[in-house]
Amino acid sequence: MFYKIAQKVMFQMDPELAHNVAIGSLKMTGNTPLNCFYRQHVKSAPVTCMGLTFPNPVGLAAGLDKDGESIDAFHAMGFGHVEVGTVTPRPQPGNDQPRLFRLKPAQGIINRMGFNNKGVDNLVRNLIAKKTDIMVGVNIGKNKDTPVEQGKNDYLICMEKVYQYASYIAVNISSPNTPGLRAMQYGELLDDLLSSIKAKQKELAEKYGKYVPVALKIAPDLSAEEIQAIADSLISNAFDGVIATNTTLSRDAVVGLQHAEEMGGLSGKPLTDLSTQVIKQLSTCLQGKIPIIGVGGINSAADALAKFDAGSTMVQIYSGFIYQGPTLIDQIVKAYCVK
Ligand SMILES: Cc1cc2nc3c(=O)[nH]c(=O)nc-3n(C[C@H](O)[C@H](O)[C@H](O)COP(=O)(O)O)c2cc1C
Repeated sequence: MFYKIAQKVMFQMDPELAHNVAIGSLKMTGNTPLNCFYRQHVKSAPVTCMGLTFPNPVGLAAGLDKDGESIDAFHAMGFGHVEVGTVTPRPQPGNDQPRLFRLKPAQGIINRMGFNNKGVDNLVRNLIAKKTDIMVGVNIGKNKDTPVEQGKNDYLICMEKVYQYASYIAVNISSPNTPGLRAMQYGELLDDLLSSIKAKQKELAEKYGKYVPVALKIAPDLSAEEIQAIADSLISNAFDGVIATNTTLSRDAVVGLQHAEEMGGLSGKPLTDLSTQVIKQLSTCLQGKIPIIGVGGINSAADALAKFDAGSTMVQIYSGFIYQGPTLIDQIVKAYCVK
């Protein structure tokens, strides 16, 4: 009820302003009695994924709390985990505004934020300052001005800095808004990145006496052969998990709608089937060897169940959370428990 009122107000505002107001309010109230406006008891539904036990299988997808400012508020809402980031070694402003668009009739979002974030050191401070012990994945990326050939170093720098504080680390090579980034999903660049990350994980696990799983986040805009090649590389490098999918460049599902021609990645309902198909193919290729975290257009409990049926061990939500509010978490967990 409260969310529906808040949403009415927010949807009158510019999308990015609404986003900033929301994150700011959640940051201020996350640890106070005022979190009663969104606090929710979600049934316990433990799930094991990447060797970790999560209290329930529903997480917040990356990009909503890029700098990890409101983690405690998302914990109060009942999320089983929060994925913060994408964070880069150095702070960067992202692309020029406007860069965030609502496609309301389709319950979709187009964004070309471009990894706007306050840098990895700021994120680490926020991870240390959070009060709750919710599972936190840290999604890492490269700075825009780092050439793709040297991109690997940015991932290793971020990994080194967040390792101690992360439940898992998500390697994002699938944002459409950093020029050249998606090139890292293919061939030698991919193999080199994955093997370097695994070598760094080994080194850091020894240093800190703690094994932090690493997951790869992939795009939905991949052919069957490309999905197979990524799966082979994930298996041969013994990656711990894969997050599928990021936003799509396709506009097939939103032709003719206002903002449909804006550049950037499309998410929400128009992405639901495409991402489920990718998860299905990936699941066939991986044969249960590596768990999949399914994300993309989950707008209802039924959408989430389709992601589990396709082979996901856990799910994440972003756009559906904006359109439906925190009760979507509870609805998915309830449906998961009776499936
Ligand atoms: C405004 C916005 C910003 C996003 N930023 C990131 C990001 O920084 N890193 C990332 O891995 N994914 C990012 N995403 C992608 C989401 O994590 C998710 O993969 C995608 O939106 C599909 O899920 P959804 O349909 O539930 O939104 C972003 C999505 C949106 C809408």
